[in-house]
Amino acid sequence: MCGIVGYVGGQQAAPLVLEGLTRLEHRGYDSAGVAVLGTSGIKIAKQKGRVRDLGGTLPKRFQGRTGIGHTRWATHGPANDVNAHPHTDAKGLVAVVHNGIIDNAAALRQQLTDDGLDLASDTDTEVIAHLVAGSEQDTLEGKLIDALGRIEGTYGVAVMHADFPDRIVVARNGSPLIIGVGEKEMHVASDLAALVRYTTTVAHLDDGEMATITAAGFTTFTADRSSTHKAATTVDIDPAAYDAGEHDSFMHKEMLEQPTVAARVLRGRLDERFGTAHLGGLNMGARETRAIKRVKILGCGSAYYVGQMGASLIEELARIPADAEAASEFRYRNPIIEPDTLYVAVSQSGETIDTLLAVQEIQRKGGRCVGLINVVGSAIARECDGGIYLHAGPEVAVASTKALTNMFLGFALLALQLGRVRDLSIADGKRLIAGLNALPGQIEEILAKEDELSEIAIGLAGAESLFFIGRVRGFPVAREGAQKFKEISYRHAEAYQTSELKHGPLALISDEVPTIAIVPNDELADRNVAAMHEIAARRGPLLAVTHEGVDFGELDAVRIDVPANEPELDPILLTIPLQLLAYHAARHLGHDIDKPRNLAKSVTVE
Ligand code: G6P
Repeated sequence: MCGIVGYVGGQQAAPLVLEGLTRLEHRGYDSAGVAVLGTSGIKIAKQKGRVRDLGGTLPKRFQGRTGIGHTRWATHGPANDVNAHPHTDAKGLVAVVHNGIIDNAAALRQQLTDDGLDLASDTDTEVIAHLVAGSEQDTLEGKLIDALGRIEGTYGVAVMHADFPDRIVVARNGSPLIIGVGEKEMHVASDLAALVRYTTTVAHLDDGEMATITAAGFTTFTADRSSTHKAATTVDIDPAAYDAGEHDSFMHKEMLEQPTVAARVLRGRLDERFGTAHLGGLNMGARETRAIKRVKILGCGSAYYVGQMGASLIEELARIPADAEAASEFRYRNPIIEPDTLYVAVSQSGETIDTLLAVQEIQRKGGRCVGLINVVGSAIARECDGGIYLHAGPEVAVASTKALTNMFLGFALLALQLGRVRDLSIADGKRLIAGLNALPGQIEEILAKEDELSEIAIGLAGAESLFFIGRVRGFPVAREGAQKFKEISYRHAEAYQTSELKHGPLALISDEVPTIAIVPNDELADRNVAAMHEIAARRGPLLAVTHEGVDFGELDAVRIDVPANEPELDPILLTIPLQLLAYHAARHLGHDIDKPRNLAKSVTVE
């Protein structure tokens, strides 16, 4: 999704801003632009396409020590050179980059046109430039406050003005902005990824906060001009986490990191003696934990599917009714919020606007919401009443792998704790702890089968359409497998409950439509094998992700055996080969694995 970068200091801004933008490429974008402010005023370069192409077109004299840049993911108007940010006012005195959506853009555009202004682009952002330019205030801060006072919607916004060449003024409402503190220079960005090469001393802006950034430092304030006295803190992030190293993609690197990060999320949280988990960050005592009558999990995309796996874990281990719902839908059905329900928001980025708005809806109605979040200090993490950090490290690829695995483990820890204050026995608790401790090694075993999985994936890549099927515990696995496959291979991949196949989709089965069946060695294995026979009878090619003990008899199915753990924990092991299948199919098809078309890593607009 859109990215913002800004720089003020002693160096030329353009190369630094461009470098920052390349660090944000993974978020997904379709056009890029940069503006610098030098002795001859503001210069702008922007175009549809990649940041590196933009860099190649910059004139020699594209100079200035104050600069802002943007990667755009189209919302208002198509991806083209004109709609790319930065946007300017009629005289070219103001340059603006913006993430988010201005809800009253149409009305404001009309007012500006009625005032005799020609709008150059189709975007909502352009109105900010005209409103800033039209303000009578005598400071850039005042002009931006004026402009934002007329705007409804969400924004992370950075503004430069030719009359105030020493500064960038920024404001946040719903879209993240982080200030990076350097030596006599300052940076600003919408994501830490763009800052960590230069500084790890940062300040996160809160919603409703604004900041002025000059080479000498920064000040934060609100629209009523009162200071918020924000201080910078140091973040513990290794810049190498943003480097793919010897891997051809971040997705590959991140898949292979799974054994290490899985061990990390468990570290210090398992109590072997009492067969339970310690999750201090939940901020809930045993009595409060016992009072929970239901669990409702909210997330989007892969986080929603792993939420469904989490709901099963909680129901099985704690015997509390639990379900997962797409956060993007939840808020719109005026949900009933109950005081004895524990709401759980799950998100890698902690920025996904749909999930954030769901959290806010819950809190507005007095519900308790905890987070399973990877990015420390992110918006959702800060809004929740407590939570479990996932410690997967920065995840760059759009397709979530290591964060998803740690989400599952976060749910396992939560289920264990909820279970052990109820009827889960100490012996069962210990059984699960042994299973959890074995998981990182088992993930490693699956990753070691990469060559075999790559060959299978190449076979699947030719199919235009595929089914992923599973039942009960296996169904969210199938959903996540289909999601991964379609996200990066662009093949139509549909997940279905194995039991529902004969109620419709069986009509689509043919020798050109492969089915990937999730068949754990559990009480449903026979039923799953029976459904596979029905597919085979219609000449559908079959692949089973399964356990060694499952007998397929005469069935002509390719099988991928994964190591078995405790049945409750098996879903995550069954998920790992599906990541490798999607990755190798996409690679074989020559796709840009980390930046799939039309998608974004953090969806910060509705
Ligand atoms: C986007 C990504 C998905 C991701 C979802 C939720 O749609 O393309 O891969 O699962 O957002 O992201 P989150 O950061 O909230 O986990």
